Amino acid sequence: RNYRIASIPGDGIGVDVQVEARKVLDTTAGRYGFGLDWTEFDWSCERYTQTGTMMPEDGIERLSAFDSILLGAVGFPGVPDHISLWGLLIPVRRAFLQYVNLRPVKLLPGTTSALAGRSAAELEMVIVRENSEGEYSKLGGRHNEGQPGEFVLQESVFTRVGVERIIRYAFELATTRTGRVCSATKSNGIIHTMPFWDEVFAEVAADYPGVSSEQTHIDALAARMVQQPDRLDVVVGSNLFGDILSDLAAAVTGGLGMAPSGNINPEGTYPSMFEAVHGSAPDIAGKGIANPVAQILAAAMMLEQLGESEAAQAINAAVEKVLGDGAVATPDLGGKATTAQLGSAIAGALA
Ligand code: NAI
Ligand code: MG
Repeated sequence: RNYRIASIPGDGIGVDVQVEARKVLDTTAGRYGFGLDWTEFDWSCERYTQTGTMMPEDGIERLSAFDSILLGAVGFPGVPDHISLWGLLIPVRRAFLQYVNLRPVKLLPGTTSALAGRSAAELEMVIVRENSEGEYSKLGGRHNEGQPGEFVLQESVFTRVGVERIIRYAFELATTRTGRVCSATKSNGIIHTMPFWDEVFAEVAADYPGVSSEQTHIDALAARMVQQPDRLDVVVGSNLFGDILSDLAAAVTGGLGMAPSGNINPEGTYPSMFEAVHGSAPDIAGKGIANPVAQILAAAMMLEQLGESEAAQAINAAVEKVLGDGAVATPDLGGKATTAQLGSAIAGALA
């Protein structure tokens, strides 16, 4: 088979890690007998600075022809973050009904958790983040600007369809894992949307008697992720809560340099989009020292979703082998290797 893949390297270290992910993917494709037809798009903050838009007007239409999308990261100093987010990432996620943001985390060999004494088994979990609505909304506005009575309103949108499908996805996923789902809520303080979220969670939970379910307020859940991570497996949360929890989950396992994510359209009607959890890291951009592992694991998630499971597993195994060996490590892992050296070592370790 031949897959058509759209590559959007983006900005900063997004560009560096994308090169390594492509290196590993192309090696894997050769090994496992499928083809990858790459088309590269320069959509980025740099493009915004030159043209005034992150992507062309027909950007979404052009992406719709692809089997999948691999994105580096977007965002750069000088361009406000809401422009890079609303000018590219959010339109793609919404147009292609990528309503699941899947962020698996685990402690990889040769890396240390920020939590002392925790084993890999205790730290394995997956954050299922709602990716199409919720708190990330354009509804609201600023009133009485500059006056003593100035106020700002920001509305959240929770639809029954949107809440039900993400929670159902989490329960389905739990049936393939440990059979546990924890929902992030805050229905004590947020009195309209969160009680509704809880109500739908309870309804869906009733359809899965074999899956144990519980809900925890987001603040307590954050503390629990640090103090008792072994009690969590599938964690489902709204767009904002899921975003925060997945950076936290990444931090307690091995750091942002190791955390992949998929923006998934589960029905497969539209292309899904895969990326690292981390951003463009302007503080280390252009130095060639970014850790490419998160992006390479995102590439493996892409192959898994395309149905190339064996090839995806081979990439995961190659990453574990190289990290476990420890000879080639980027500075965030305590080594001196460059982005390209670690990428090449992983490509070279493919079975
Ligand atoms: P960030 O994830 O880019 O960086 C946070 C810290 O982690 C930095 O110190 C960075 O050096 C380090 N780090 C991140 N990835 C690393 C890697 N692969 N290897 C080694 N160290 C790594 O988050 P930050 O600084 O909040 O955001 C920077 C820009 O990225 C902003 O413009 C933001 O909007 C954008 N961003 C874009 C995302 C995307 O495209 N999906 C996601 C998150 C942020
Ligand atoms: Mg985030």
